[in-house]
Amino acid sequence: MLNKGLFIFIFFSLILFGCHGVDDNKPSKTNNSEQEETSELELPKKHLKKFDTHDSVQVLNDHLLSLGYEVNNTKHFDSLTTWALTDIQLQFLPEHVSGMYDEQTRDILNQLKDNQEKIVSEKKLKKTQYPDRLPEVTDNPFDVLALVNKEHALPSDYIPHDLVVPNVRFPFTEDVPKKQLRKMAADALENLFKASDEAGLELYAQSGYRSYDRQKTIFDNNVARHGEDHANTYSARPGESEHQTGLVMDVTNRTVNFELTTDFGETKEGQWLKDNAHLYGFIIRYPEDKVEITKYQYEPWHIRYVGEALASELYENNLSLEEHYQKNLEEN
Ligand code: DAL
Ligand code: ZN
Repeated sequence: MLNKGLFIFIFFSLILFGCHGVDDNKPSKTNNSEQEETSELELPKKHLKKFDTHDSVQVLNDHLLSLGYEVNNTKHFDSLTTWALTDIQLQFLPEHVSGMYDEQTRDILNQLKDNQEKIVSEKKLKKTQYPDRLPEVTDNPFDVLALVNKEHALPSDYIPHDLVVPNVRFPFTEDVPKKQLRKMAADALENLFKASDEAGLELYAQSGYRSYDRQKTIFDNNVARHGEDHANTYSARPGESEHQTGLVMDVTNRTVNFELTTDFGETKEGQWLKDNAHLYGFIIRYPEDKVEITKYQYEPWHIRYVGEALASELYENNLSLEEHYQKNLEEN
């Protein structure tokens, strides 16, 4: 009898405790200003990325404001939201820097709130560093969604901090920097290679990360061979190459003798890549029908990591990264 009574007592205590737990999700502190109340709202559970427009982005921006980041108090995920998240990730999640919002970032933001830790805004990434440089130089080269092209360059001293060699097939054995990718892109490339292996195909990774100086040597050699205008239709000026982001791998196969040639697009591997790369977070960055927009010739081999959400969005709507930026900057 006593045990049964005890059991009933514990049961009802748990129910009461549970209810209290639900209450705990509400703001626990008494706040006078509306600003503080909003920042106490629970951080969104969904993934968010640049250009998303949603009430949950407002909650995120309010939260960043309460941490001392000068972001816009709106429901737009803009470049300032991206900057603030990147600066926080560089401080607390150095292996997971993207400028996007996900579970890991949410956990860190919650810890910062709960521990009332002092976070220093702009500790790792200045808000604006290159205000007047042309072509425009991105302030946030860590942004996994960064647009890098003839109009938007990377800082010459940018070297990704999380380069690793993906465990994939290469057509050479030397241990060279071009085998590397940023960790997030390397993990995604391994998944892409696994899936293509399972489909009975044999992709090879030919060229990934290139430093600013390495790109300068490559571009200068191409200019010497073909003249500057022609060279720049297939080779980027230093600072303007996506290869410096560490988010790109040029891939090839045995059929084309491991070369980077448009014929690769006609092979089984090239076709599979075109139809499936987005499932692993990659886009074919320079498609045949977008030459006028990307300002580079067709490159069926150059795949750029942007994460699964954006890669699928671009694939389904047949948009290049330039068109995506143009569309969203016009809308917001
Ligand atoms: N081939 C591409 C455009 C590069 O040089 O980055
Ligand atoms: Zn490339």
